Amino acid sequence: MKVVATYNIKGGVGKTSAAVNIAALAAADGLRTVLWDLDPQAAATFLFRVRAKVRGGGRKLVRGRTDVTDLLRGTDIEGLDLLPADFSYRHMDLVLDGAGRRTRRMGRVLDPLAEHYDLAILDCPPSISLVSESVFDAADALLVPLIPSTLTVRTFEQLSAFVEDEVEDPPEVVAFFSMVDGRKRLHREVVERLSTDRDDVAAAAIPAATEVELMGVERAPVVVHAPRSRAARAYRALWAEVRSRLGI
Ligand SMILES: Nc1ncnc2c1ncn2[C@@H]1O[C@H](COP(=O)(O)OP(=O)(O)OP(=O)(O)O)[C@@H](O)[C@H]1O
Ligand SMILES: [Mg+2]
Repeated sequence: MKVVATYNIKGGVGKTSAAVNIAALAAADGLRTVLWDLDPQAAATFLFRVRAKVRGGGRKLVRGRTDVTDLLRGTDIEGLDLLPADFSYRHMDLVLDGAGRRTRRMGRVLDPLAEHYDLAILDCPPSISLVSESVFDAADALLVPLIPSTLTVRTFEQLSAFVEDEVEDPPEVVAFFSMVDGRKRLHREVVERLSTDRDDVAAAAIPAATEVELMGVERAPVVVHAPRSRAARAYRALWAEVRSRLGI
């Protein structure tokens, strides 16, 4: 089973939107897919119409005292299951801090899923914490949405360096541009320059689009509720790149 996490220290940059769309596309490709919503805000769980509730809470789960397969919920998308969020995940850092081998904990939770799924997607909360470090350790790839600006690119470089230096078996870190406004010259320039110059920036960029915002109303990924939209096309291109990088 491959593990992909959508991650950025910043909030509201398109992590959850990417996670749910990529999860839907992977499932449509026939990969047995599970999405783990790690954010106590539970946006991905809400989008898939699942109740944000984990019996026993986050503490028992990361301490290995809950059978993770009991927590899985089906979604409206065939081949896609959800490991829901829980409000107790807000204390996950404290839980990990008190645990031994703390950066291994997320990986341990995922271990029993490996025989049931081809791909796990982890939708991370916006922060850098023990939770993220444990996610970096478990992931094969980190997918990092960037809103085009010079500053976000610097932040991405800091993250890449951190992951490379501090994680024992580091994931491949791949950025993609998110909420790109084609009317803004700065956006066009930054996207064009970086996606051609750097191989850790995906060629596919997600445009700013109403269809993505409407996911919360439709309660479905954009690739499901508006499959012909430009945003859906961009997510398909992004997924194709991610899939080939993962070699699955
Ligand atoms: N390409 C896009 N075009 C327009 N709106 C978008 C786009 N991507 C995301 N949004 C909107 O921006 C908001 C934040 O997106 P999303 O929830 O995906 O980000 P996030 O990084 O997961 O946020 P958080 O850090 O709060 O978890 C949402 O309201 C979403 O609908
Ligand atoms: Mg989110």
